Amino acid sequence: MAKARTNYVCQSCGAVAQRWQGRCEACEAWNSMAEEAPSSGIAARAVRGAGKGRVFALEGLHGAHREAPRILSGIGELDRVTGGGFVPGSVILIGGEPGIGKSTLLIQACARMASAGRRVVYISGEEAVAQVRMRATRLGLAESPVELAAETSVEDIVATLQTGERPALVVIDSIQTMWTDAAEASPGTVTQVRTSAQALIRYAKTTGACVIMVGHVTKDGQIAGPRVVEHMVDAVVSFEGDGGRQFRILRAVKNRFGPTDEIGVFEMTGAGLSEVTNPSALFLAGRDGAAPGAAVFAGMEGTRPVLVEIQALVAPTSLGTPRRAVVGWDPARLSMLLAVLEAHGGLKLGQHDVYLNVAGGLRIDEPAADLAAAAALVSSLTGAVLPGDSVFFGEVALSGAIRPVSHGGQRLKEAAKLGFVAAVAPAGSLEGQEKGPLSVTACGHIASLVADVAARATSRAHTRERTREETSQRDDATRGRRREN
Ligand code: TYD
Ligand code: MG
Repeated sequence: MAKARTNYVCQSCGAVAQRWQGRCEACEAWNSMAEEAPSSGIAARAVRGAGKGRVFALEGLHGAHREAPRILSGIGELDRVTGGGFVPGSVILIGGEPGIGKSTLLIQACARMASAGRRVVYISGEEAVAQVRMRATRLGLAESPVELAAETSVEDIVATLQTGERPALVVIDSIQTMWTDAAEASPGTVTQVRTSAQALIRYAKTTGACVIMVGHVTKDGQIAGPRVVEHMVDAVVSFEGDGGRQFRILRAVKNRFGPTDEIGVFEMTGAGLSEVTNPSALFLAGRDGAAPGAAVFAGMEGTRPVLVEIQALVAPTSLGTPRRAVVGWDPARLSMLLAVLEAHGGLKLGQHDVYLNVAGGLRIDEPAADLAAAAALVSSLTGAVLPGDSVFFGEVALSGAIRPVSHGGQRLKEAAKLGFVAAVAPAGSLEGQEKGPLSVTACGHIASLVADVAARATSRAHTRERTREETSQRDDATRGRRREN
């Protein structure tokens, strides 16, 4: 048998190399290779178990199956993101930046479930029991029968969990602080995180308890320790927020038991996280409808319509290469939209800096936002204020055509609910859909959008011009009268 060799494992992506390298060849991270003994991890077990395998029966897709029963956490926004509650025996990884509120959300969920009569265990590897208690007291949850411990050894945790009644939910806060004897690497390394996660996943699968693991996110948005855990768990949920603001958005990144396009919206208050059941009202709060460069987008987040303001600023550049900056939207999508506006809308943007922002800290992935973004851009360029009571949605094709998008009726209904009276939408997207009380303008091509907005700008300019003329006429008259006197 070949002599066991030391491996070097990248701590950022988990790639394995035979020799030490200053830079990981897979993810190009510098100084991320750490030495690890080959006796740990899955590879070693596979080598040991090599030989004759057991023959098992293969089955078809049809046949008996049971819809996985769900355990509700009692927090509606959390249950929406998990796809209708936790599935027994499943493992969920919840990622987010430090201080975003992961521990707060989970202790709140634990307390709700424990109060509903289920056994819930909360293991903190970061905070002492007293600290967790203090927070629970402050949140008014001290009375609920959650079982607490501050532990980091996976073997001890699994042994403890196996005594007594099977818990419905186990929270591990966080996976990066866990360590196991099964791996020889030092705590916090990829191997430790991976092996600890494996042990906890095995525990969940064999007992049917649901395990939630907290994972910290690095500066560039990866769950540290990172992709190596993501593929092993059943669901990955990320908790995002905007440092300065109180909103927090819970988003499913991967879910084996439900959709991944649902979001849960929370607000961080003095009494912990409270659910926001009407996010549109929140995202539109404090809107200045009278400024050019703002358009309201009627979007969908999963099954729920969400209205959000898209803000654009187009200004002459002082640099050789104009700047393009985006917050909350895809930069590639903005480049595409600008190209379409130039090619088919007749705009000249080569000498302009372009900034685009999605208000409220929301991130939009939907192509349906194209039309609203385009309207905001044209409005900012021309200085024409868009009507404050209109919403926009529609996908812009490279040909300049506005393509229909799904859920037209639902988008309009939400807009009507929030007091909007008009909508600009692609021609075909309302076929077979209820239009509701809104007056809908069908927009078929980007050129007609540009023409509409430009017409508003000219009429505004006319008004301004007329006012100026009237004023000067009045002034002349006054002057004439003075001269006469
Ligand atoms: P925490 O849940 O500890 O974050 P994480 O586990 O993701 O690191 O949240 C800490 C932040 O939340 C902290 O900055 C204070 C704030 N917070 C409130 O504003 N109100 C509260 O009731 C609680 C418990 C925390
Ligand atoms: Mg925490």
